[in-house]
Amino acid sequence: MNQETKVFKITPDNFSDVVRECADIIRRGGTVAIPTETVYGLGANALDPTAVNRIFHAKGRPADNPLIVHVASVEQLEQLVLEIPSQARSLINAFWPGPLTIILKRTVIVPDITTGGLDTVAVRMPADVVARELIRVSAKPLAAPSANISGRPSPTTAAHVLHDLEGRIDAVIDAGSTCIGVESTVIDMSGEKPVILRPGYISAKKIEEVIGEVDIGYTDHMTDGTEVVRSPGMKYTHYSPSATVLLLEGPHDLVLDKIREMYADFTCRGARVGLLVTSIDLSSLTNDIVYLGGKDEPEEVARNLFLGLRSLDERGVNIILADGSFTHEGVGAAVMNRLRKASEMIIKL
Ligand code: TXA
Ligand code: MG
Repeated sequence: MNQETKVFKITPDNFSDVVRECADIIRRGGTVAIPTETVYGLGANALDPTAVNRIFHAKGRPADNPLIVHVASVEQLEQLVLEIPSQARSLINAFWPGPLTIILKRTVIVPDITTGGLDTVAVRMPADVVARELIRVSAKPLAAPSANISGRPSPTTAAHVLHDLEGRIDAVIDAGSTCIGVESTVIDMSGEKPVILRPGYISAKKIEEVIGEVDIGYTDHMTDGTEVVRSPGMKYTHYSPSATVLLLEGPHDLVLDKIREMYADFTCRGARVGLLVTSIDLSSLTNDIVYLGGKDEPEEVARNLFLGLRSLDERGVNIILADGSFTHEGVGAAVMNRLRKASEMIIKL
C-alpha cells in the first residue's frame, strides 16, 4: 500500500469543513484516523465489510480480533444490539459519552468481519467532539481500533499515527494529544454476570458503584493457551516498542536503586539504555529518559506512557528500564496492565 494520506489539522475555524470532508471519505468506504479522549482510532464505516477490511489491512491486525464500534447516540446503539439490559443502561447513563466500551449481543446488520465472527459487538460513545461529530455527520457507526500497526504502542498524537500508518490510510485528523492516554475500559454485558475484559480509565470500583459486583476477566500476562481467552485481543502481543522493555515493580526507592544499578550494568556492556521513570532524581544519568509523572499521579503517568515508549524507541535505545512503582489505584491499574504486556521481563523487588 502506498497511497496519499491527507492530514487535517483541525482548528475552530475549519472544524465543520474538516468533519464534512472526512465524513465523505467514510461514506465512500475509506479510512480516517480520528482523535478520541483515550487514544487515536482508525475509523471506517462499521457496517461496510470492505471498509472494515481496509482497517485490518492497514494495521496488519489478525482477523479474529474484533473492533470497537463507536456511536454518537443511543439510537445508533439500538440498531447494533439485540437488547440493552438494565445494568448496561445504567452504565451508559453513568459513563457515556466516555471511555467505557460495552459488549452486547449484536444484530445481523453488524458484519462478521467487524466482530471477528462473534455474536457480540463492542460499542462505545467517545467523549471527543471531533469523533462524535464525524459519526453524526457521516451517519455511520465507526469501527475504530487504536490507529497503530498491530502490536505497537497505541498512538496518542497524529504524529504517532503517521509514523505507523502514513501511506496506508486515507486521512488523519490532527487534534493534538489525547487527554487520557490509555484505551477504554472494556466490559462484557452480554452474559449472566458483567465481566471487565480490559482495564481502562474507568476503574472496576467506579463501575461497581453503579451496577454492583463485576468479575475481572483479564490477566496482565500473556495467556499460555490453557486459559480461556474471552477477549480475542488478549492473546496477542501488545503495546511493544522495538526496544526490549524490562519492568521493575516494588517499593519506589528500591525500584529507583535497582534502575541505577541496571543502567550502569547494561551501559557498561555496551547497550544504549532508555529510562521510563516516575522520579526526576534519575535525570542526571542520561538524556534517554522520559519522566512519566509522579508515583502518586496515575493520570499523568497514563498520558505519558505510550508517548514515552515511542519516544525512547525513536531515539534508538536497545533496552528500556520501566519504573512500575507508581500507584496501581484507579487508572494506575490500566497503565500497569499495558506496561506488563509491553515487557519482556518483570523484576519484582
Ligand atoms: O479507547 C479505545 O477503546 C480505543 C479508541 C480508539 O476508542 N480503541 C481501542 O480498540 O482500543 P482496539 O481494537 O485497539 O481494542 C479493542 C479491544 C480488543 O482487545 C478486542 O479484542 C476487544 O476490544 N473486543 C472487541 N470486540 C469484542 C467482543 N465482541 N468481545 C470481546 N472482546 C472484544
Ligand atoms: Mg489496540
